[in-house]
Amino acid sequence: MIRARAEVEALTPYAAPLEGRRPFLRLDFNESTVGPSPRVLEAIRRLPPDAYAAYPEYAGLNAAYAESVGVPERHVEAFNGVDAAIRAIFDAYGEKGSTFLTTAPTFGYYEPCAQQQGMVIDEVLYPEDLCFPLAAITRKLESRPRLLFVCNPNNPTGTLVEPSTLAALARSVPQTLVVVDELYVAFTGRSVVPLALELPNVVALQSLSKAAGLAALRLGFAIGHPTIVERLRRVTGPYDINMLAVVAGKAALADPDHTRRYVAEVLAAREWTLDELRRLGVRCAGEGGNYLLVWPPGDCEAAVRTLRERGILVRSMAKKPVIDGSFRLTIGTLADMRRFVSAFSPIAAP
Ligand SMILES: Cc1ncc(COP(=O)(O)O)c(C=O)c1O
Repeated sequence: MIRARAEVEALTPYAAPLEGRRPFLRLDFNESTVGPSPRVLEAIRRLPPDAYAAYPEYAGLNAAYAESVGVPERHVEAFNGVDAAIRAIFDAYGEKGSTFLTTAPTFGYYEPCAQQQGMVIDEVLYPEDLCFPLAAITRKLESRPRLLFVCNPNNPTGTLVEPSTLAALARSVPQTLVVVDELYVAFTGRSVVPLALELPNVVALQSLSKAAGLAALRLGFAIGHPTIVERLRRVTGPYDINMLAVVAGKAALADPDHTRRYVAEVLAAREWTLDELRRLGVRCAGEGGNYLLVWPPGDCEAAVRTLRERGILVRSMAKKPVIDGSFRLTIGTLADMRRFVSAFSPIAAP
């Protein structure tokens, strides 16, 4: 058998249990529980057959996203989901033998991308209180890693870092590319973009997957210095984003009220859920994002299984450093969370 590159042979691939989820109330992957704007469905329905036969056209997509975040278009590039932007960053900047610095636990796709490039992985654990380990990261930056990834708010801990702290960190390490994964920024409103747009070593990542409800279509954006954005474009295929994502993305961006309403609903449901979990005496954590960590009493995997039997999916964090024994709970609408609390109450207070 012909062998792949040594890094690929040694790789632990990113594996998410994504099959067979549709019949459940899906509170496991931080997706929207209501779906996209009706304008998205309408725009796709109206497409003529030749739209499917031609290679996709991208005019107006970066401009629409740039306008939605209030930056010039030259700072923005679209990708086939933020996952593809992450891949592009490692392809463009991840030199073999250089260091990739991040926190742990964090989003699981960074690590295999770093492994694929043959990078040295250096992870700083969150402390027990799940605050951002600023002092430890600052110390590690003295040895000039090639890449620093900060997920803000962090998935899965919900930890928030002040954007001004990240901009200051980036200014202090001009030789390190600082990547700020802002996948859940719609739920926090706290972005590094206004502070870091002109810095030559910062790139922010945002997506229409979650708050805008387009996870299936795959559309994410990198926002940063035009030189970084251009280098990422160089390592991306000419038609990596499909036509349906372009049409849907433009329609979603033309209806920002749909996303705003959903975010407001989620934030209210989050407060309600936190109150209910406190009433049940259950430990939970999370400063930002449409998710919380919940520590059920007793065996976490058993709680996750019982919820599944009751039609609700949550994501077990068993065996993850620092947060072992918890599950990640996506916050949906108030109706979704009422359903969750009524299924979870007998587990929390048997
Ligand atoms: C922190 C974080 N980054 C990136 C992604 C991938 O986003 P996308 O759906 O845009 O590829 C996810 C998805 O769950 C995520 O949680």
